Amino acid sequence: MSITRRQPAALDFARARKAGRSAVLVFALAAGLSGCRQDMHDGPGYRPYRSSAFYSDGSSARPLVEGTVARGFLRDDTHLYEGKVNGQPATSFPFPITRADLDRGQARYDIYCTPCHGRTGEGNGMVVQRGYKTAASYHIDRLRTAPVGYFFDVMSNGFGAMPDYKAQIPVDDRWRIIAYIRALQLTHNATASDVPADELNRIKSGAPAAAPAEGHGRSGGQQ
Ligand code: HEC
Repeated sequence: MSITRRQPAALDFARARKAGRSAVLVFALAAGLSGCRQDMHDGPGYRPYRSSAFYSDGSSARPLVEGTVARGFLRDDTHLYEGKVNGQPATSFPFPITRADLDRGQARYDIYCTPCHGRTGEGNGMVVQRGYKTAASYHIDRLRTAPVGYFFDVMSNGFGAMPDYKAQIPVDDRWRIIAYIRALQLTHNATASDVPADELNRIKSGAPAAAPAEGHGRSGGQQ
């Protein structure tokens, strides 16, 4: 019985001692922290673009290590990104062209190329009619036989009086535009015998064409 009575008192004493010890600890910690507070404020870090007397080029910013590639920008697929295979203009598309790709290509072509090249690619678009240098017709033999990679290069880097469109047109869309230009070239010289029989019958009967495919084919898209 006497033990059970004394026990709470003993516990209180222990608790008080513990509290005292932690107060001392907090005080010591606070004193210690305030001691190095100023040091941390004056740390040796540089603000962006600040000059530096430490490096010989006078700049605190260090150049990127040679060969550094930003995440998502490793463009080692030259077929896709440059239209080249073994250093030569590619003769094939880097991804399969679906009907949806062709439709998207037509839409992009109508937006970006028709002002100069015209809807059917003769090179007499509205801007040309207003005095801009005559744009090339896609229907001359040289361009009909030019590899697809050549068109990619012209679109990406410009050609003579034609500005480049790499900033405006993402990589995938450039390929889709080329697919549509190929369709324009084919249809320009096509005859009735090139049209599949059932399609020819449909045209003759005057029935409307089938609705174009939904979606944009290859998703994602490279910039
Ligand atoms: C602002 C007007 C303009 C626009 C827009 C334009 N082009 Fe051109 N393009 C030209 C002119 C002008 C030439 C002829 C350049 C020259 O001979 O100096 C040309 C030439 C070309 C050629 C032929 C190059 C050769 O070897 O003769 C291709 C291919 C071509 N353009 C593709 C395109 C495509 C694809 C687009 C749309 C993404 C486009 N162009 C948009 C003005 C334009």
